[in-house]
This record gives sequence, structure tokens and C-alpha cells, in this order.
Amino acid sequence: MAPFFFLLLFSQILVCTAVDTINSTTPLSGTKKIVSKGNRFALGFYSPPQGNTTAASSSSNYYIAIWYNTISLQTTVWIANTKVPVSDPTTASLAIGTDGNLVLLDQSKNRQLWSTNVSVASNSTVAIIRDTGSLDLIDASNSSIIYWRSIDHPTNTWLPTGKLGLNKASGVSQRLVPWINNANPSPGLFSLELDPNGTTQYFIQWNNSITYWTSGRWNDNIFSLVPEMTAGYNYNFRFVDDAAESYFIYSMKDDSILSRFVIDVNGQIKQLTWVEASQQWILFWSQPRTQCEVYALCGAYGSCNFNALPFCNCIKGFSQKVQSDWDLQDYSGGCKRNVPLQCQTNSSSSQSQLDKFYTMEKVRLPDNAQSAVAKSLQECQVTCLNTCSCNAYTYNSSGCFVWHGDLINLQEQYNGNGPGTLFLRLAASELQGSKKSKKVIVGAVVGGVAAALIVLAIVLYILFQKCRRDRTLRISKTAGGTLIAFRYSDLHHVTNNFSEKLGGGAFGTVFKGKLPDSTAIAVKRLDGFHQGEKQFRAEVSTIGTIQHVNLVRLLGFCSEGSRRLLVYEFMPKGSLELQLFHGETTALSWAARYQIAIGTARGLNYLHEKCRDCIIHCDVKPENILLDESFVPKVSDFGLAKLLGRDFSRVLTTMRGTRGYLAPEWISGVPITAKADVFSYGMMLFELISGRRNADHEEEGKSFFFPNLASNTLHEGDVKILLDPRLNGDANADELTRACKVACWCIQDDESTRPTTGQIVQILEGFLDVNMPPVPRSLKVLDESPDVINFFSDVSSQNSKTQNSTFSSQTKSTTSDG
Ligand SMILES: *[C@@H]1O[C@H](CO)[C@@H](O)[C@H](O)[C@H]1NC(C)=O
Ligand SMILES: *[C@@H]1O[C@H](CO)[C@@H](O)[C@H](O)[C@H]1NC(C)=O
Ligand SMILES: *[C@@H]1O[C@H](CO)[C@@H](O)[C@H](O)[C@H]1NC(C)=O
Ligand SMILES: *[C@@H]1O[C@H](CO)[C@@H](O)[C@H](O)[C@H]1NC(C)=O
Ligand SMILES: *[C@@H]1O[C@H](CO)[C@@H](O)[C@H](O)[C@H]1NC(C)=O
Ligand SMILES: *[C@@H]1O[C@H](CO)[C@@H](O)[C@H](O)[C@H]1NC(C)=O
Ligand SMILES: *[C@@H]1O[C@H](CO)[C@@H](O)[C@H](O)[C@H]1NC(C)=O
Ligand SMILES: *[C@@H]1O[C@H](CO)[C@@H](O)[C@H](O)[C@H]1NC(C)=O
Ligand SMILES: *[C@@H]1O[C@H](CO)[C@@H](O)[C@H](O)[C@H]1NC(C)=O
Repeated sequence: MAPFFFLLLFSQILVCTAVDTINSTTPLSGTKKIVSKGNRFALGFYSPPQGNTTAASSSSNYYIAIWYNTISLQTTVWIANTKVPVSDPTTASLAIGTDGNLVLLDQSKNRQLWSTNVSVASNSTVAIIRDTGSLDLIDASNSSIIYWRSIDHPTNTWLPTGKLGLNKASGVSQRLVPWINNANPSPGLFSLELDPNGTTQYFIQWNNSITYWTSGRWNDNIFSLVPEMTAGYNYNFRFVDDAAESYFIYSMKDDSILSRFVIDVNGQIKQLTWVEASQQWILFWSQPRTQCEVYALCGAYGSCNFNALPFCNCIKGFSQKVQSDWDLQDYSGGCKRNVPLQCQTNSSSSQSQLDKFYTMEKVRLPDNAQSAVAKSLQECQVTCLNTCSCNAYTYNSSGCFVWHGDLINLQEQYNGNGPGTLFLRLAASELQGSKKSKKVIVGAVVGGVAAALIVLAIVLYILFQKCRRDRTLRISKTAGGTLIAFRYSDLHHVTNNFSEKLGGGAFGTVFKGKLPDSTAIAVKRLDGFHQGEKQFRAEVSTIGTIQHVNLVRLLGFCSEGSRRLLVYEFMPKGSLELQLFHGETTALSWAARYQIAIGTARGLNYLHEKCRDCIIHCDVKPENILLDESFVPKVSDFGLAKLLGRDFSRVLTTMRGTRGYLAPEWISGVPITAKADVFSYGMMLFELISGRRNADHEEEGKSFFFPNLASNTLHEGDVKILLDPRLNGDANADELTRACKVACWCIQDDESTRPTTGQIVQILEGFLDVNMPPVPRSLKVLDESPDVINFFSDVSSQNSKTQNSTFSSQTKSTTSDG
């Protein structure tokens, strides 16, 4: 209460001293700024924090910008003159021009740098900064006449209550374009916009030409390829598509939460929420999911690796073209050759050697390959050598392919679709190392060393054999209970070269393997770990001590160099996802499902309450429930979120935990508790009942969200209609009702009203009775037609209400700012 009161007082004082308007007699210049009524946003001259800039641009550049006025980290949301900075804000001014437009003037050069550039009917206008973050140009005598709004002309940020769409009459579309680098707001190469052709999907494009991400079409509730929107309970959103325009609009249900949507310098779109406690913007959603899916992110001859920071590196034989740009995270300039190719130089041929090829294995092959005629690898190589513009070739089962010109979109250590082997053309000197200069010495020493080497080799061989025997022994003793530290080469061997893929979990890829004693194992190769060896071992040994009949057992691990692998017991029946969602008939009877529900709750309960530190799973979903020979469920992947650190795991889970298993608190930035797992468990329970994904239900061509139907049906009575049709009504009615009720309690918005996992077990076992659950509030909202979704549910959003012309029914009446 007290801090809130203080805040009120504080903002009162500011309101008295700060102005929120620019009129014809009060232009803005120097360090002056205007601040919105509620103190949320400020507008003034802004200079980006300089990175390591080159001497040429060492003088500061200033831009007219809007930023959050209440947070410690200066964060801009809009920039007027993105392309034309001023060097001295004292000689520049933002003023109402003679034509009524708001203009930026550089008086030292007597030049107009920027203008709102609209036709203004009256001769008296003012510009006002709103609490929505919009700068509005309005009529001085009638503030409901709005000529121009900055929120309709977004730069890299799309704020709540702003539209992003297409005006069908004028053909003008609002595009979100990132800064070119972290120190320069001029437009970069990427952009997000609604399909200009008029479909209801958004595209992210590179250089206005190549689309590397799409949202999928709007299907009345969500964009089809963004299923995680079903978890966006803290947002109101809607898509409007009428004769005049089509656009998407969102707002916060709780107006006190600061949230923004940006397209960042690296071509990803991101939704971020300010968390005051940690004084930073927390990322909870981004697309494309991995940085390397961004087209041409690393420029020509750059290679993307999402396990490394920075993501981009130059490939062998190349180095950064403009280091200062790379320092500012602008990799688009790419890399340049260190040594020119022999064919590019005019040196006499006696001196120079023919170009050579460097083999890059397991890469995502660059774009724009050209097919060439060649019957063998050698021919393919010769074909490439014969043309000076040929920079690389590959030879695969489809034949010979060569690349002329720059290599774009390379990715090393690539695990995705169709990795290939690239033969990269380099000057011969690049591939010789230092051999030549040392030839003489090497020759002299070789004789003496050779004998020693042979002895050494024999010793090593004996030692190696001994180790091998020891290890084999230890491997066969897995039942002993302690974790085994595997060697990478052994795992490589027992998984048969990582050939049998079992699945791709949230944290890495899982492969099947077989130990020397024929025990089947599942080997998880972890992605994206930057953690040190010691910390990894500590965490892993903690996970290793957690043993419960409903938890997948960790048998061992491997930590070598940057490689991190976990070795688990193998589950013959695979995941619940596999058993539940596939096939015309189902192997899972109602009784089996009920036992799976109870077992899973027991496993989670063990994690939540019985371990020394409470472990929140963070990613409960059918993919992570594995089944043994007799369909006993075992929760997998626990402890990994903790391994990754909480904030990071928040990102990971929301990025990858699709299809609405996420509790609303993931989105709102409040601390995550075990009740977040309960929410996901509830969503999963609904799926056990219906046998389908909650979002995959459709009737008479209209899709619906299963939990909605279920919670409404509960109140009306006959729950049998909710049952998976493949079970032909074969289910215990009492158990079915219990399961529905529990599921519905689990997905309540307020986490305190959700049961604990311990209570869930008791209810399902029939030891605890359960009342009729209310229909969760967020489901109610989803149920209503988009038109009546209340965009401003909060009293504190008075200001937004008055300023927002998009919600026309509310706008006209209430503009009395005095
Ligand atoms: C402009 O605003 C200032 C204070 O904000 C006020 O004193 C002045 O009268 C205004 N001028 C006009 C022309 O409205
Ligand atoms: C800038 O360059 C200096 C020296 O070249 C280096 O120490 C510093 O870390 C760099 N700063 C940034 C932000 O890259
Ligand atoms: C202002 O708008 C007109 C059309 O409305 C356009 O032709 C002109 O290029 C614009 N000027 C600037 C500086 O954007
Ligand atoms: C604006 O126009 C009105 C009449 O339309 C006129 O009386 C007034 O003087 C004008 N004001 C300015 C600042 O030009
Ligand atoms: C202000 O403008 C609106 C819209 O153009 C109009 O409906 C209203 O009557 C005007 N109010 C005054 C006081 O002129
Ligand atoms: C838009 O329509 C044009 C003409 O019909 C077509 O050539 C183009 O490929 C379409 N663009 C997209 C992104 O679908
Ligand atoms: C972007 O496209 C334009 C033509 O539309 C082309 O001139 C330019 O070179 C392209 N930029 C890059 C970095 O390829
Ligand atoms: C090679 O020679 C040609 C003409 O003989 C000349 O135009 C070119 O600049 C030379 N290139 C280099 C790298 O010296
Ligand atoms: C062979 O490489 C080319 C060039 O990247 C690629 O388009 C093609 O799909 C590859 N074929 C196979 C079978 O991997």
C-alpha cells in the first residue's frame, strides 16, 4: 500500500511540473522533454548508447524518441527521424510547423528533417504524448479530431493498443522494422508485416523479398502457427478484417504490466515484459524459435551456431568485414576472404599453388546452389575449380551442386533437415598451416622421436585397453545406484553413431542405445548449454539422487568439452503423446488412462514436495510423460529447467512449450511456483479424457478449445460426451467426473485455487471429495465473441480509454483532459 501511495504522490508532483504537449509557442529542444499525464512515457531528444564505434562517427547522433519514463533502463518505443539524426539538439527543435504539422527542424542548417506530413484542416494544432506511448497530433480546439498518431507509424516496437495491419483503401501497411544495429535506429533488413496480398497471416521478411517466418492464418482464436497464443491469458487480442482494413491489436488485461513487442536487430520478433524486481526486460516469447532460422543473419560467409554466443562467426579462411558492425550485433555485412584465391590473383603460376578445398561436415548448405553436371566427387571438384567464381561445391545423392557468388545462410553443427558436406574453396596457403617453414627441423627430429613415439603408443594402447575393460565393467554395474560418467566416444558407440532418434525434446535430441549388457538406454544430447563442467556435474548429481517409480531414472551423463549428454532408462512404450494422439484405435483403456493420471500426479508430487529442494518441472505435457512396458507413467525431463536457470527456462518453456500447457503466470512475469505444473497437468488431463489435443477439436467446421467445452459440460451434467470416442463410452462414470473436475480446478487462473499435486492424487484415488469447479475466467473470455472482449478491463487505464480511437464506441465522449 505504502509504495503505491508514494508512487501516486510522486506522479502528482511530476504532473505539476511536466507538460505533455507541444503547441505553437512551446517547441521542444535541447534536454527538454514532454511526459504523458500518467507519467508512463516521455518524449525528447535521445542518443543511443554508443557501442565501439569507429572514429568517423564518434560524435553523438540524436533522435526524437519516446521511451518509458518509469523504468531504470532507458528503453525507446518509437523514433521519429530514424534516418536523419541531428548532431546537436540545442540547435534543433520539434515544433508545430506553419502547415499545422509537427516538424523537426535543424536550425543550424535551416532544414526540415522530418514531418508528420498529413493534411491538416485547421490552423491550430498541438502534439500530445499519451500514456499508451503514442504521440498524437490533434486539433487545438477540439481534441477528438486526431490528425496523426505515432502508434499508427510504428518503428521497431508494437505497443499494446497499437494496430499492425493493412489499410485496404490506400494499400499502406504498417511494418515493424528493426534498428540496423544496436547504436543506429535507421531501418535494418528485416521486417514484420501483414501479408500485403490480403490474407490474414503475418510474414517476417529479409530485404523485402525472402520470407523466413509466417504466423499462419487467423483462425478466429489464434494464428494457426502460433498455438502458444492460447496461453496468452494476460492479453486481450483480436484480429479485425473488414472492407476498409485488416489488423491485429492487443492490450494488457492488467494495465500495470509493461509489455512490448519488438523486432530486434537480429531479425527475431519478441514479446518482453518488464520485471521491476530484477530490473530487466524478461523475454517470454519469440519467433522464429531459434536465432539461426533468421535468413542470412550472419551475412555472406558467416555461419550461424545457436549454441554459441555470438551466434555468428566467420567460416574458415574468412574474417569479419566490418568488425565495428559485428560488435554492435549487425552481422549482415558478413565476412571477407583472408587470402585471395589463386585464380583471382595475377601472380605468375610458378609461385602460386592451385586453390584447395576445405571440408565442412554437417552443415546447413547455403542458399542458391546451382546444379552442375558431374559424375563423381572429383569431377564436381574440377568443375568448381575451373570457374573462378565458384566458391564451394557439394556432392550428394542428387548429384553435384556448386555455388557461385557469396555463401549465405550457412549453419555449422546443424541437426536439422538434410545436413550436408560442403567443400569450401580456399587459397592453398590457408590449408597448409605452418608445415612448410618447419620442414627442416621436423626432418631432423623425426628419426629420434619416432622410436619414442612407438614406445609411447604401445604404453597408451595398453592403458587404453585397461580403461576400456574397467569401463565395461562399470557400465554393466548400472544397478548399483550411482551415476556413471560416460565417455562421449562410448555413447557414440552404444547409440550406433546416434542413429536411432527417439524424439526431440525441449532441451535436446534423444537417441536410443544399448549397453554392452543389452540394457536399452535413451541418450539425450543437450542443446544450448553454456554452463561450466563443475556446475553441470553438481546439478546432474542432484537429479541423479531423485528416484521414484513415476519418474524416469537418470543412469549417467557425459560432459566432455562443450558436449553435454544425459543417459536415461529406456521406456519401451514411448511417450503418452505417442500412445494418445495417434491411431484410429487406442491402446489406452480408460483404466490405463486413470492410472496414468494418478501416476503422473504422484511423480510430480514427489518433485514438488518430497525432494530436498522443490523442483518445478516447468514443461509438463504428454511428450514428457513416458510409459514403461506395463504403461506405468514416468515423468521425464525434470530438473532440466533448473539446470538452465529460471529466467532462461522461462524463455525456453514458452518458446517451445506450445499448444497451451502454460499457466498464465508464465506470461505475466510473476514468480513461478509448483502450481504452474498443476495448470499444465490439468491441461494434459483434459487430453487424457478426450484423446486429442485441447486445441485440435473441431465440430461443424468450427474449432473450439476443449477445456471450454469440458468446464461448461461439467455444469450441465453429462460428462460422457467428453470422452474419447475411441473408448466407445467404456469408462467408469465416477472416475470420469472426478477427472473432469480435477482438471478444471487445475486450470483456474488464480493459482491459489488450484489443488496441490498431493491433493490431486487423493481426489483421483477417491480419498478426497471435490466441489464443482467454477469456469475459469480466462476460458470465459475466450468463449465470448471477439467483439465484446473488453480491452480495458482496468480502472487505472482511464487515459488509454480516452485516447484510443480504435475503440470508437468509447472514444468520442471522454476527452476532458483539463
Ligand atoms: C502553449 O502551452 C503553454 C503551456 O503549456 C501555454 O502557456 C500557452 O498559452 C500555450 N500556447 C497556445 C498558443 O496555446
Ligand atoms: C570496446 O573496445 C574496447 C577495446 O577495444 C574493449 O575493451 C571494450 O570491451 C569494448 N566495448 C564493447 C561494448 O564492446
Ligand atoms: C508527404 O506526403 C506526400 C503525399 O501525401 C508525399 O508525396 C511526400 O513524399 C511526403 N513527404 C515526406 C517528406 O514524406
Ligand atoms: C486561425 O483561423 C481563424 C479563423 O479560421 C483565425 O481567426 C485565426 O486568427 C487563425 N489563427 C492563426 C494562428 O492563424
Ligand atoms: C469535435 O469534433 C468532432 C468530430 O469531428 C465533432 O463531432 C464534435 O462536434 C466537435 N466538437 C466541438 C466542440 O466542436
Ligand atoms: C502476392 O500476389 C502476387 C500476385 O498474385 C504473387 O505473385 C505473390 O507471390 C504473392 N505474394 C505472396 C507472399 O503470397
Ligand atoms: C536487397 O534488395 C535490393 C533489391 O530489391 C538489392 O538491390 C540489394 O542489394 C539487396 N540487399 C542485400 C543486402 O542483398
Ligand atoms: C590482374 O590483371 C588485370 C589486367 O591484366 C587487372 O585489371 C587486375 O586489376 C589485376 N588484378 C590484380 C589483383 O592484380
Ligand atoms: C544435395 O544438395 C543440394 C544443394 O544444397 C540440395 O538442394 C539437395 O536437396 C541435396 N540432396 C540431398 C539428397 O540431400
